[in-house]
Amino acid sequence: MSSVRKEIEELRKIIEQAKLGGGLEAIKKQHEQGKLTARERLELLFDEGKYVELDMLVTHRATEFGMSERKAYGDGVVTAFGRVNGRHVVAIAQDFTFMGGSVGEMHAAKIVKAMQIALSVGVPIVFLNDSGGARIQEGVDSLKGYGEIFYMNVMASGSVPQIAVIMGPCAGGAVYSPALMDFIIMVSKTSYMFITGPRVVKAALGEEVTEYELGGAEIHASKSGVAHFVARDDREAIEIVKKLLLYLPSNSLELPPRIDTGDDPFREEPYLNNIVPEDPSKPYNMYEIILRVFDRDTFFEVQKDFAKNAIIGFARLDGYSVCVVANNPMFYMGSLDIDSSDKIARFVRFCDAFNLPIITFVDTPGFLPGTAQEHRGIIRHGAKIVYAYAEATVPKLTVIVRKAYGGAYIAMGSRHLGADFVVAWPTAEIAVMGPEAAAEIIWRKQLQSVQDEEERKKLLQKLAEEYRAKLATPYFTASRGYIDAIIEPAQTRKVLVEALNLFITKRDVRFRPPKKHGLIPL
Ligand code: HXC
Repeated sequence: MSSVRKEIEELRKIIEQAKLGGGLEAIKKQHEQGKLTARERLELLFDEGKYVELDMLVTHRATEFGMSERKAYGDGVVTAFGRVNGRHVVAIAQDFTFMGGSVGEMHAAKIVKAMQIALSVGVPIVFLNDSGGARIQEGVDSLKGYGEIFYMNVMASGSVPQIAVIMGPCAGGAVYSPALMDFIIMVSKTSYMFITGPRVVKAALGEEVTEYELGGAEIHASKSGVAHFVARDDREAIEIVKKLLLYLPSNSLELPPRIDTGDDPFREEPYLNNIVPEDPSKPYNMYEIILRVFDRDTFFEVQKDFAKNAIIGFARLDGYSVCVVANNPMFYMGSLDIDSSDKIARFVRFCDAFNLPIITFVDTPGFLPGTAQEHRGIIRHGAKIVYAYAEATVPKLTVIVRKAYGGAYIAMGSRHLGADFVVAWPTAEIAVMGPEAAAEIIWRKQLQSVQDEEERKKLLQKLAEEYRAKLATPYFTASRGYIDAIIEPAQTRKVLVEALNLFITKRDVRFRPPKKHGLIPL
């Protein structure tokens, strides 16, 4: 055998060895837990399973606590680039089979290098987390590594999309890398995230709780709002990543790809003419509007089980990738509370950062009243929606479906915060507050003078109707030019398609005072 052939044989052996990560026994254990290995996950992510691996031969250089004898190529993480749906992506997959995917100095250095590459060429970062956290044997070197990963997450924020998938443990300070990224997908039953685990919780508070009760996928998707998507298994989690990437540009300087969805842009939907009930206190299904207005089968909901009084998600309109924001009258009548404010504001900022037009459907009686909300800071949280919409420079199109009262009218993508195109359905009610509440204040004395309870109710009803007819009607708002048109609901899709095609080339010509950065009320 020639020496070159020998060298090649040797390289092949090393690569085979490297691909085993922490070894066959650990791979078997990983599979028994229902988890795939780092490389199996990457094969599912990248087109045709092909990718270019970086730093495959990196090893750690720790010496304490037997570390000199405990080495594996790759140091517990696979970093790579390749194509997803034909476009370049950088991916990081922690390899639990070597030392539980724990983060040491060199493990972190690989991650930081991969992120730097993604940032320098402007491609999304996908981070598949499966790790026992900071590598205990490496002390502060490990913490330095985490610090540098967080720093890169912040540098990449708003520049390239960052998607985190949690496919195993993610505990302690380690949670802050995913938390700094744009989307978190958690795998049901095999992943959890928390700052302090069950043992510390028991010691500190006497509470008995399992990992999954504390920070499993379902909890984070419905209660904390930390997770944006839940997947049944690793395979589905990767499918969600791929789907999500389809709606996004590679970086903040590009437009998202437009695709031909084959749906008629001028399709009318007569069903929508009857969707809003006669009785304004009755809810209806906002999803029916969304599904009928956007291109067929393109609505992709985000955080669907969290703060259900608001709906957010991606969709396509005439093939353009857009963001959808809507109130959901099925929950708290579509009121805005703390969680829905955070949900909407964060999404609006994401869409603005990545050049995705925002289409808003409004039906909200206002911000949710009560001590629980006030004491937890609805003022601070509600302000985020106002801030996010006002700051956004992407095309902003708004449809007022029914209620748009008070501060919530302004917050939900109103003309006054810079919306480019606002239309109302004839069912719209736009005013400082609901007609009943308004009548009770304006005509308080007159109402108090009526002794008979029934008579007073009747009078209130009459006065409320008068207020509704004169001020809460969309025709009053239209007369001021605050909305551009009152449209027949059936024509919503075609009107939005026309508007989107016009505003897609919008240039931001607003005066912006010089500053380092604004101060969104966090
Ligand atoms: C070094 C680790 C490790 C870690 C796991 N391993 N976590 N080695 N540092 N952080 C090793 C184990 O020793 C074991 O090695 C192998 O990985 C597999 O782990 P198992 O325990 O056998 O797996 P499992 O039963 O599935 O349990 C997984 C686990 C558990 C729940 C993650 O390993 C665990 O509790 N690890 C410690 C977690 C932790 O406290 N990390 C520090 C958190 S603080 P062998 O040799 O047996 O195969 C933190 C702060 C970050 O991360 C700060 C950033 C700012």
